[in-house]
Amino acid sequence: MKKKNICLVGFMGAGKSRIGQRLAQLTGYSIVSTDSMIIEKEGREIADIFKNRGESYFRQIEKTIVAKTSRMQGVIIDCGGGVVLDPINIANLKANGIVFYLSATPETIYNRVKSESHRPLLNVSNPMDAIRDLLDKRQSFYEQANIIIHTDDRTVEDICLEITNIIQND
Ligand code: S3P
Repeated sequence: MKKKNICLVGFMGAGKSRIGQRLAQLTGYSIVSTDSMIIEKEGREIADIFKNRGESYFRQIEKTIVAKTSRMQGVIIDCGGGVVLDPINIANLKANGIVFYLSATPETIYNRVKSESHRPLLNVSNPMDAIRDLLDKRQSFYEQANIIIHTDDRTVEDICLEITNIIQND
């Protein structure tokens, strides 16, 4: 039987990378990150791409990377937080995988990202307002996922257990 991909979507700081890494250890699946693939393809950091080429250029590259990773089989795809904004990306991910939305409140997200500076969309004078605003605008896009996983006040182990149980019973 063909192994489905495990696609992780969610807002910046929702824990996609940490959960993806742990899931890779638990399942033996390889993990790919759309952000890392974009950085590798472009030869520069995401903040640099946003600054010099603009967000729409970044989204075009992201779309080609999502299409490429969606054609893989039995991998964990750690998606950048804005991947859900394009319905074609969601359709591509679902074609070969299960899409998990890792949800978190703005407060949880703020606490996770406040000490980091590499995310251009949150590198603003009031990140908490930016998180609330963006999350509000994106909520309905994230909810296009197959399954919603709540991550507030939960350990990575606990979240991974929920995801592996779902995959095993699929
Ligand atoms: C973005 C999220 C980032 C990265 C880029 C844009 C977004 O990925 O793709 O900065 O629009 O939410 P992470 O969610 O991995 O931080």
